[in-house]
Amino acid sequence: LARLLTEKREELASSHGLQWRVTGIHTRRHGSIIDPEGIDLALALRRMDGGQSLESPSSAAAPADGPAFIRACKGDVLFENTPVNYESGQPAVDHLRTALQCDMHAITANKGPVVHAYVELSQLAARRNLRFLFESAVMDGAPIFSLWRETLPAAVLQSFRGILNSTTNLMLTLMESGDSFEQAIARAQALGIAETDPGGDISGMDSAVKVAALVTVLMGFPFKPHQVERMGIESIPAEEVRSALGRGRRWKLICQAQRAGSEVTAFVRPEQVDVSDPLYSVMGTSSAVTFHSDVLESLTLVEGNPGPDTTAYGLLADLLRAVALRG
Ligand SMILES: NC(=O)c1ccc[n+]([C@@H]2O[C@H](COP(=O)([O-])OP(=O)(O)OC[C@H]3O[C@@H](n4cnc5c(N)ncnc54)[C@H](OP(=O)(O)O)[C@@H]3O)[C@@H](O)[C@H]2O)c1
Repeated sequence: LARLLTEKREELASSHGLQWRVTGIHTRRHGSIIDPEGIDLALALRRMDGGQSLESPSSAAAPADGPAFIRACKGDVLFENTPVNYESGQPAVDHLRTALQCDMHAITANKGPVVHAYVELSQLAARRNLRFLFESAVMDGAPIFSLWRETLPAAVLQSFRGILNSTTNLMLTLMESGDSFEQAIARAQALGIAETDPGGDISGMDSAVKVAALVTVLMGFPFKPHQVERMGIESIPAEEVRSALGRGRRWKLICQAQRAGSEVTAFVRPEQVDVSDPLYSVMGTSSAVTFHSDVLESLTLVEGNPGPDTTAYGLLADLLRAVALRG
């Protein structure tokens, strides 16, 4: 995000009337800095890339506690990108709540607070005429939430089916080409694709949290990850992945949710798909989702090879939605 903001500084100013400066950066192990005049992002990036602390002997002291840091920072927008906490959404929920209470827009790529505090944070934002936005939380930078919020008025989502976890899709792709399960995990980690703890990807928990986020926000049905029936890819041997391919089928970790009367049922589980399925050709880190609504029979969004850069774009797009003066 820091790189993207810097690259697009001119364009944001000329096309969107947006001038910006970063007044604070808070991390867990790399220090915390505040400078109301604007932090030197190039220097901060060099320090991070070199594994150094952001702090220097001349840095002003910044609170080490997240909410205290946010209160001290006095920005207009908070970007909250701590690792996902599947069980409670913390500390992200506290960070986002504090930002909104301090009159900052709250933007996150973290799906935890979406499933654990969507209603509370959205209502708090609305009461204070602010935005709580999370475009990157489910499909990296692809416009999944804004698609529904901004371009499909009065459409009612009936069901969706997709591939929402890059790590497992990449692992299944690598296993098709000869990797063992362990080699595939190691490669996903080396590429920076796997979550901080890849166990959540492999067990299907990451996908279940994404399904719960989509059901909560797009179907208007508050849903928790434990309500998603879940099976991961750990029980599929690499030999089986290759043998399925020989039979013209591919194993995919499928995410699905469906409205049934006043209820929603949802699952995450590995399934074999054949070439007639739009998910058959979704390979590597790519993800895809097909929506079925009362007005559009089928609408598919495919995101090719997302990564941290596309996630950063989703955060930037949310920034523009929250604060752009013209566009
Ligand atoms: N990477 C992606 O492409 C992607 C895509 C979609 C969504 N997301 C979501 O975006 C979030 C960040 O992902 P990431 O890949 O950037 O994770 P990451 O590489 O693990 O970075 C997490 C950052 O949060 C900081 N941090 C951890 N605990 C903190 C705390 N209690 N208070 C303040 N800072 C804290 C860490 O600081 P230290 O380094 O000092 O520990 C680090 O800078 C996650 O919720 C993830 O699910 C990421």
